[in-house]
Amino acid sequence: TKQTITVIPGDGIGPDIIDATLQVLDKAGCNFDYEFADAGLAALEKHGELVPEETISLIEKNKITLKGPLTTPVGEGFTSINVTLRKQFKLYANLRPVLSFKGTKARYENIDILTVRENTQGMYSGAGQTVSEDGAKAEAMSIVTREGAEKILTFAYETARKEGRKKVTAVHKANILKSTSGLFLKVAREVAQRYPEIESTEMIVDNCCMQLVMNPEQFDVIVTTNLFGDILSDLCAGLVGGLGMAPGANIGEDCAIFEAVHGSAPDIAGKNLANPTSVILAAIQMLEYLEMTDKAEKIRNALTEVIASGDRTTRDLGGTHGTTDFTEALLERL
Ligand code: NAI
Ligand code: MG
Repeated sequence: TKQTITVIPGDGIGPDIIDATLQVLDKAGCNFDYEFADAGLAALEKHGELVPEETISLIEKNKITLKGPLTTPVGEGFTSINVTLRKQFKLYANLRPVLSFKGTKARYENIDILTVRENTQGMYSGAGQTVSEDGAKAEAMSIVTREGAEKILTFAYETARKEGRKKVTAVHKANILKSTSGLFLKVAREVAQRYPEIESTEMIVDNCCMQLVMNPEQFDVIVTTNLFGDILSDLCAGLVGGLGMAPGANIGEDCAIFEAVHGSAPDIAGKNLANPTSVILAAIQMLEYLEMTDKAEKIRNALTEVIASGDRTTRDLGGTHGTTDFTEALLERL
């Protein structure tokens, strides 16, 4: 039977890079059906809410979603849509791989790092956010559970095993955040025991930032809590040419949402400047999740060749071309 995918074009550069990605999937012969859904500013304007009920039902029904970036309005009492979706569908794991491509003008050439980010707990979950009436005191709550930590750590090691990766680094701040990060680290040490064939290391997050810039080739899999994972994955994107090169998969027991790491990029929206590679790589993650590895390989090879040739790459990669030219080059190659 034909796989149906829920597609959320999203805001800013979203619709353009999602459109490019769907053309690529079709050209590669993936033969999906798509059902389109609104979320973000686009949905607020049309339906009066950021995540309409129909969108939730479609995500639930089709199980697989390809999503463009969404703009969360700042400070108007809106909670982040991404945080809402990750919680609602219990998408506890966020897989953010970065890989060096030839022809990108990135600072490094041999990067292959998978950040596995806990996606529903910790400082990023938005729990307990209050500001006192006089505006003088703000609070937020960070919760880490043994169950949550064990799930993400096990997921990281299982993924490492499946992908033939050799090393897992647990990143934490247990020296200062003794309760939350302390529990995460404790569970990390326990889970590591179950995977003797994989090298396990641990690193404090601030040192990890420095190490990633100075000597990134030492990293293989990084597993960490929500906020650290958010920050480290953008840092990792910077190692391979920027946010235009970084995809992310939000995985739960039942549903999965594939997206770029970056946001709606209002500074370049509507200018045909966005690099669609981020969402195309997310689509490749989706194909791998669906065990359509031949299609995944086919698109990855075409992408590798087009970027390496440098003929029609986008400005972020040092080229002079737009989203549509780059996409056209990829379609021709396919
Ligand atoms: P951003 O990630 O949208 O942009 C950061 C910088 O990277 C900008 O200079 C942008 O032009 C560049 N960039 C991003 N994607 C690119 C691409 N594909 N090709 C070339 N250059 C690219 O971060 P910013 O500006 O802080 O956030 C904008 C909005 O996005 C905010 O409303 C934020 O809440 C939202 N956001 C949504 C996310 C999501 O839906 N998953 C994730 C991060 C932010
Ligand atoms: Mg982020």
